[in-house]
Amino acid sequence: MNYKLPDPEQKSQYVQSKFTEIAPKYDRFNDFITLGMHRYWKRFVVRQTGVPIDGICLDLCCGTGDIAERMKEALPHGKVYGLDFSKGMLSIAQERERLHHKGVFYVQGDAMRIPFPEDSFDAITVGYGLRNVRNLNECIQDILRVLKPGGVLVSLDVGKIRLPVFSEISQFLFFKVIPMIGKRLLPDQDMFDYLPHSSISYPDQETLKRLLLHSGFKQVDYYDFFLGASTIHVAYKP
Ligand SMILES: C[S@@+](CC[C@H](N)C(=O)[O-])C[C@H]1O[C@@H](n2cnc3c(N)ncnc32)[C@H](O)[C@@H]1O
Repeated sequence: MNYKLPDPEQKSQYVQSKFTEIAPKYDRFNDFITLGMHRYWKRFVVRQTGVPIDGICLDLCCGTGDIAERMKEALPHGKVYGLDFSKGMLSIAQERERLHHKGVFYVQGDAMRIPFPEDSFDAITVGYGLRNVRNLNECIQDILRVLKPGGVLVSLDVGKIRLPVFSEISQFLFFKVIPMIGKRLLPDQDMFDYLPHSSISYPDQETLKRLLLHSGFKQVDYYDFFLGASTIHVAYKP
């Protein structure tokens, strides 16, 4: 109940250690929190990239590889990298790669300093990642740097419900019900508190759209799901 988000200078270390902790259970956590809907939203992310089948794509904050794998299926002649700074999450992704041979290349690295040269990618996908980085503006700048001209960023994350009653119901579910049930299923996980609290400080759909435009993207659209509780931004580099 007395959960407090980490201070900005400790955020990276906190996020890295929490995701490493939850890594073996993360896929179950995601299914539980979204009632399995994240699978549909991630397919939507891949479709929105519109990259040709020989394109080159980076899945930033790739976690266990959900989006990267789907992206590689869509780009049979292309190249897909998954980048994450949590060893725990990456080792699950790599184990999945060893079992299923999707052809994704996994890299350990920081989304704040993407370890690729400028103009490298046709598309960058991010699932529930931008909310977690230490400095959103700087991360967006680095995404712009590594995207090719005309490249696209597609980001899936939690959004804000604008209809008042539904917004209150969702806050109640998010802050009270989900943590209560979740902590029984996956005991000792701060994630059930971190998720709702971090979503409050993350920009709403319109604010993120404006931020992306001010950062240098030329066109930004977003698609809401579940009345806006989940949202996907699609942003094009000039
Ligand atoms: C909520 S998980 C999302 C995983 C996956 N994208 C998905 O949609 O299921 C967030 C991931 O972002 C990673 N992450 C957060 N900040 C990062 C950073 N600065 N650099 C690299 N990875 C980061 C975490 O380690 C974690 O694996």
